[in-house]
Amino acid sequence: MDPIKRKNLAKYRWLILRKALLGRRTSDVPSKGSIRVHNSVALFHITETRNCDLESWMDYKHDGTPPLTVQIKRPLSILSMEDLIEGDNTGNVCIWASEQVMARYCVVNMKQFYNKSVIEIGGGSSCLAGLFIAKYGNASRVVLSDGNNRAIMNVDSIIRKNFCNKMDNLKIPEAVQIEWDNEEVLVQYAAQFDFLFCADCLFRDDIRRHLALAIFRLLTSEGEAIIFAPRRGNSMNDFLKLAKELFGISGVSIIQKYDEKVWQFHLSNLNVSSYNEDIHYPYLIKLTKSLKNPSLLTAASSA
Ligand SMILES: C[S@@+](CC[C@H](N)C(=O)[O-])C[C@H]1O[C@@H](n2cnc3c(N)ncnc32)[C@H](O)[C@@H]1O
Repeated sequence: MDPIKRKNLAKYRWLILRKALLGRRTSDVPSKGSIRVHNSVALFHITETRNCDLESWMDYKHDGTPPLTVQIKRPLSILSMEDLIEGDNTGNVCIWASEQVMARYCVVNMKQFYNKSVIEIGGGSSCLAGLFIAKYGNASRVVLSDGNNRAIMNVDSIIRKNFCNKMDNLKIPEAVQIEWDNEEVLVQYAAQFDFLFCADCLFRDDIRRHLALAIFRLLTSEGEAIIFAPRRGNSMNDFLKLAKELFGISGVSIIQKYDEKVWQFHLSNLNVSSYNEDIHYPYLIKLTKSLKNPSLLTAASSA
């Protein structure tokens, strides 16, 4: 990148950080310094409302069949110094394209989750995909999780809003802070889920191995993980290598074209300068657990 462009990019990024620290919304319209500069495919009609506490809520209505709707609370954009120093705040910034694509996948394939136990991990401040399943999927149990406490507090408010009229308490999803390397929490949830969802979480080199292991451990003996993520340099390939160690080569599949609308958006943007397939196009990865291969079990327990 030429030095002037690099200097301008740095300036725009400082402006985003300054806004966040001053408590001003960094806006859902991506700005020049953000990798969100390219708007993602529109899969939901979003209508914003404010309640009497001046909280900002949005209706996410699926733009397709079935036209299901959930209510999402926008997290406060004020970041403390503690937020910036500790932990990963990427899930409090926005609902990333991978999460939206994953939510549509859930809406369209809702029947699959009937009477199944489902968890979303790294779901950020919305857990949008898991929320749709909890509200419409008749799943036996839904856990919505993220490692960030602020994100989970937001998810908790979202659950209260979306389930305020539900009489059957058993079907109300749980909001839980689950960090992928927190052994104490993982043992409480191990081997309990038929389906696990995860969007745009493969990018952190320092925690990727823990993520792969957590996915393996949370699934039941024949469970399936459904993951959406862009390639982001080597991050997806590195994750796939780890996944193959745990799930076996036949347990890992990667699908580039899984939804006609998303695919057409991708093709029509290939020549747009702000579109970068590497960071903007979510792939679908499916990991299927099968305990027919005992050597994989040993690999997981000794890792
Ligand atoms: C890019 S965000 C994706 C959020 C959401 N899935 C989406 O796509 O909008 C990555 C998420 O991973 C979570 N995360 C990062 N490290 C984690 C860890 N060690 N344990 C649990 N969650 C973690 C972050 O809190 C964040 O919400």
